[in-house]
Amino acid sequence: QATIEVDLQPIEPGQRITVSWREQPVFIVRRTAEEIARAKADDASSGLIDPETDAARVQRPEWLVVVGVCTHLGCIPLGQGVGENRGRYGGWFCPCHGSIYDNSGRVRKGPAPKNLVVPQYVISDDLKLSIG
Ligand code: FES
Repeated sequence: QATIEVDLQPIEPGQRITVSWREQPVFIVRRTAEEIARAKADDASSGLIDPETDAARVQRPEWLVVVGVCTHLGCIPLGQGVGENRGRYGGWFCPCHGSIYDNSGRVRKGPAPKNLVVPQYVISDDLKLSIG
């Protein structure tokens, strides 16, 4: 359907879940304080292929919401499952051609040219996420 709603309350710090929206996976991450600090510190990295600040990619630093589709050729990056390869920046690793994303969903190693897409969403005060 066009819009989906997800209850964020049961998600624990450090946990990642995947939901389906418009036949695409959407990765939802409740980031820990350490992960947020790392993402913000990386704003200043010279290694950003598609430079964006972390603040421009989240509405609340604790919650990262991105479309889980590699911007190279559309594979689904690894990293949502416990113990999966998250790549060197603590985000995601695309097994198809080796692109690496950080925990803001920014591409840090190609061939992917763009950051993971942030969908339109709203988070209500009682932690209901509406995507779309
Ligand atoms: Fe992800 Fe090519 S589809 S690196």
